[in-house]
Amino acid sequence: MNFPFNIRRLVGGWKFLFLNNKPFTPDPKQSAAWNRGAYLVNGLGHCAECHSPRNALGGIVASQRFAGGPNPEGEGWVPNITQKSLKDWSEKDIAWFLKTGELPTGDTAGGSMARVIRNTSQLSDEDRAAMAAYLKSLPAVDGPPRLKVADGHQDHKH
Ligand code: HEC
Repeated sequence: MNFPFNIRRLVGGWKFLFLNNKPFTPDPKQSAAWNRGAYLVNGLGHCAECHSPRNALGGIVASQRFAGGPNPEGEGWVPNITQKSLKDWSEKDIAWFLKTGELPTGDTAGGSMARVIRNTSQLSDEDRAAMAAYLKSLPAVDGPPRLKVADGHQDHKH
């Protein structure tokens, strides 16, 4: 995984618009902000890399992209960030979270997400708002059943 990454160095333009090694193609039916958000979330943010379950070959399960799963970096569970789980978050809540790491509950993101926030906190408010708009547009998708993580540890976080 290309991580950690330095968003600030890369967000300069639309030159690096690659997604899964394919050029990122903006969706003309969506707003410029949505496309910018899609690019930042899918391209630079690598958000799906952690927030998706993986198949036996280690590939992201496309139908459950962003629906959470066992932490690919080790223990614990990465939460679902589709509208299944973030439906009560406003776009402002998401943008604020990406700036500060603070959840609407008042908690602060920990684990590997804290590293992500260190990067997203360096983006502009506009870019974070674009990412929030894109994330709010994701359909609600059920994640994999959260029974045990692959290494057999029981996850004690709710
Ligand atoms: C390196 C793995 C990793 C990457 C990359 C990552 N996340 Fe996370 N994310 C996590 C983990 C782990 C948590 C849970 C943190 C905790 O429990 O404190 C989390 C939590 C969150 C939450 C809070 C969800 C909730 O219900 O509590 C949101 C929203 C979120 N991430 C959005 C994003 C976005 C947007 C991106 C891309 C910019 C992203 N994440 C990239 C690992 C990652």
